Amino acid sequence: MAQGSEPVYEALLDGWRLVALSEVDSTNEEVRRRAAVDPAEGLAVMAAVQTAGRGRRGRTWVSPPGNLYLSVRLNQGRTLAETAQLSFVVAVALADALAEAAPHVAVRFKWPNDLLIGGAKVSGILLETDRAAVIVGIGVNVAWAPDATTATYPATSLKGEGADLDPRDLARGILRHLKSCVEQWRARGFAVFRAAWLERAQGLGQGVVARLQSGEEVHGIFVDLDADGALVVDGADAGRRRILAGDVFFAAS
Ligand code: BTN
Repeated sequence: MAQGSEPVYEALLDGWRLVALSEVDSTNEEVRRRAAVDPAEGLAVMAAVQTAGRGRRGRTWVSPPGNLYLSVRLNQGRTLAETAQLSFVVAVALADALAEAAPHVAVRFKWPNDLLIGGAKVSGILLETDRAAVIVGIGVNVAWAPDATTATYPATSLKGEGADLDPRDLARGILRHLKSCVEQWRARGFAVFRAAWLERAQGLGQGVVARLQSGEEVHGIFVDLDADGALVVDGADAGRRRILAGDVFFAAS
């Protein structure tokens, strides 16, 4: 449940709205609860702290003060394919927002939708379905990053990269870019976002290891992102594999 001091409401463009809380279990969960009475697209919740933040694949997203925890509900996600595409659209929107807020940091993508700076993770995205909608959860390491002993992947923060940002300002920027990217995607389709993602993809043409949910590891060269958002790995003799879910690690150069 939402706790602490009174929520702050802010009206954004075209009916999108942002609720800022001091503490909540998970902003994704808070959006789900609020959507029961406020179902129109563009309901966004941010919190200063999450007590039960969650990451992809059932992981915990450690959520101390100083970072950004933001979720927004979109009337989208009728099919799995649509949701898969949306995850890349969100990643591109987030990278655009970071490029605007901190022009000196060079952001790259790690499949499917992590954002990296200098090879270390600065942001993660979690999409969850909610009836006929999708809740997009975004965590950005604004001021703090988990250390190597707790993170599954090396992590950094914007502050550590020399960008001192206010989480609320960043949330506004992300929502503005997200709204515009989602509109573009609806009007023009996925191809433009696939291209934008590939342009900034980490490790394209290089060796990767994809660790699947089953525990299987797929080794090969990262050659493409296909039209469904699958990672295409060329395993030479083992042939090409389309990876639909898993964690990616880059071979040491
Ligand atoms: C990942 O594992 O990389 C995805 C992390 C997503 C974390 C964000 S923080 C805001 C929203 N609320 C949550 O509980 N999770 C997402």
